Amino acid sequence: MRANLKASDKIAPGEIMDARRELMSLHKNGEQGWLSILDNKKHVKEIKDAVKQFAKYKHLLVIGIGGSDLGARAALYALRTSGKKTQIHFAGSTTDPDEINAVFEQIPWKQTAINVISKSGGTLETMSVFFAAKERLEKAVGVKKAAKAIICTTDPESGALLDFARRKGYAALPVPQNIGGRFSVLTSVGLFPLAIAGVNIDKVLASAKKLRDEWVKFGGTSHMIDQFAAHHAAHSAKGRNIHVLFSYAAALEQIGKWYRQIWAESLGKSPVIGPTPVAALGPTDQHSQLQLYQDGPDDKVYTFLTVSMFSSKLKVSQDIAKLEKLAYAKNQSFADLMRAAAQGTAQALAEQNKPVGILNLKKIDESAIGEIFTFFEIAVAMTGLLMHVNPFNQPGVEDSKQRVQEILSK
Ligand code: PA5
Repeated sequence: MRANLKASDKIAPGEIMDARRELMSLHKNGEQGWLSILDNKKHVKEIKDAVKQFAKYKHLLVIGIGGSDLGARAALYALRTSGKKTQIHFAGSTTDPDEINAVFEQIPWKQTAINVISKSGGTLETMSVFFAAKERLEKAVGVKKAAKAIICTTDPESGALLDFARRKGYAALPVPQNIGGRFSVLTSVGLFPLAIAGVNIDKVLASAKKLRDEWVKFGGTSHMIDQFAAHHAAHSAKGRNIHVLFSYAAALEQIGKWYRQIWAESLGKSPVIGPTPVAALGPTDQHSQLQLYQDGPDDKVYTFLTVSMFSSKLKVSQDIAKLEKLAYAKNQSFADLMRAAAQGTAQALAEQNKPVGILNLKKIDESAIGEIFTFFEIAVAMTGLLMHVNPFNQPGVEDSKQRVQEILSK
């Protein structure tokens, strides 16, 4: 991953060093565990053992919401892997009955296992969909066989899901207690669905570790992650409170949704500062959002997430030359069209003095996935610390869970 960030409004180097020290100390004292989990071989072995145990199922229904859903979904979508081995289906991120039915109708229950993911074990959306799915599975294969086909990813020490799993004899994978939902993609939460689908999780973890080590060992304040964080914190302080991640690869669309969550839930803590993350997709959104970006208010920071190499070599047909105005495109590769669209759009915004940064991936593979997750996890923590907000809690989400409970209890 390469970054080209023109941080016009820099934060003082001393502030960046303070934020680095604070983040490192949260990891050293064990308060946060999402950087050190990358070295936890026992955790990876538990995941791989579970994959062996469940590999006989052709389908896996993953049930979770928020941080217990978005990471695996984004990585599988980016790698286009689902179906290589076990085919993954997702439910739990909505209680819309028509959507739940539509997913359930596609599932061949006799060949399906269920992975219910909830760190707390008490999230209404997840647990209500889980019990509906469990009933379907039990109807198809019987209670005994169903019990062998269920694996719960949850807090290893307490919680309603853990208790239930123990009572029923279901398999379980731990979500380490010192890792919050939106920082959990590189734990059993994201890695079990990825591994069983056929993704090489060793490669994902290796690139995540490489970037983490590079950041940890970096002397000074000019590491690309710190610059990214400082750039966003500085522009937010100046009122540029909309942060646009403009991804130029269709496969990165769900990464945009993962980014929106980690950015919003981590940084939205104060009435005076807190960026609104926007996930845009190029070139699609050039024909939807770009007019506003170009000529609308100067309240946004843009990050272009681009890709150097696409797998397909598809070219534009010669016949396009028959349309005089488009003749210049004949024989160009579609990858060239993507690159030109990203470059042209970034240039146009930069020329209007809008803050533009570029994050470039060589290609979309397991290594890139490890890098993207690690990059944004460290970046959002650093941005939060630079903004003097706690990037690791989510009181607003907990409040809304409480209100739903109250409404339904009445
Ligand atoms: O990032 C977070 O903490 C949240 O988005 C949670 O992941 C989400 O609310 C689901 O929580 P749980 O895993 O406890 O069901």
